[in-house]
Amino acid sequence: MSRIVYVNGEYLPEDQARVSIFDRGFLFADGVYEVTSVLDGKLIDFQGHAARLERSLGELDMAAPVTMDELLAIHRDLVKLNNVEEGMVYLQITRGAAADRDFVFPDPAATPSTLVMFTQSKGLIDSAAAKTGIKVISIDDIRWGRRDIKTVQLLYPSMGKMMAKKAGVDDAWMVEDGVVTEGTSNNAYIVKGGKIITRHLGTEILHGITRAAVLKMARESQMEVEERPFTIEEAKAADEAFVTSASTFVTPVVAIDGVALGDGTPGPVARRLREIYIDESRKAAL
Ligand code: PDD
Repeated sequence: MSRIVYVNGEYLPEDQARVSIFDRGFLFADGVYEVTSVLDGKLIDFQGHAARLERSLGELDMAAPVTMDELLAIHRDLVKLNNVEEGMVYLQITRGAAADRDFVFPDPAATPSTLVMFTQSKGLIDSAAAKTGIKVISIDDIRWGRRDIKTVQLLYPSMGKMMAKKAGVDDAWMVEDGVVTEGTSNNAYIVKGGKIITRHLGTEILHGITRAAVLKMARESQMEVEERPFTIEEAKAADEAFVTSASTFVTPVVAIDGVALGDGTPGPVARRLREIYIDESRKAAL
């Protein structure tokens, strides 16, 4: 069965959906996106994703083509139309297709922004990565300076994943000025003496929606949290490590640059946080 996707007001079979070759998302990576996970056919933390989307749009002076309530309705329609029980909804808004290629932003009154959305069905709870943990390498963070805006400029993260694959591991943690920023598509954490350490928010990292939820739940569960930079050396000497994102929830990291953490299996803090996060998010899903 062909997937039903959403393009600028229409629900269409995926092979009939079209975006102009002049679309600025395609020509300039002039677009923002969100990935919202689905459990039991319901959206996890839609409000968080909608709030970050509005912020990303605002930072780039880009118009939202629909209201956040309409966006929620489209998310729900797509989940229903495609019978998604577990997986995610991808959303992308670009500055639209101007008449010609021009670096200058087009007048939004004449060039409406483009909105596309699609679903991906995928088992998220019973993932192999959650059971065994993932291995990462460290790479230089050479991305642009506004990583707090969730733009579709994902070439370097994609290259990072390929570097990891070539090294025989699962992902890469990026390092800038001697400290870890984040994973290629997730936020990075270490645990030492029971304390959860993760980089503080700023323009250097994406403000993960899962990160915010997990840190809140950790604090509510009386776990100690410290938001500060850490080096790869400190990470290698940690008791455990993990990553968070909408599509992986909390996933343990068991090795960094070939150095096993603890006994090389998922640690207790990461396992517990994953459980708490999935339980709580399920209860609050829309
Ligand atoms: N990536 N950092 C980066 C660079 C990311 O791309 C992501 C998410 C995160 C985690 O954010 P959140 O918890 O809101 O998903 C952190 C998504 C899942 C992706 O690109 O597929």
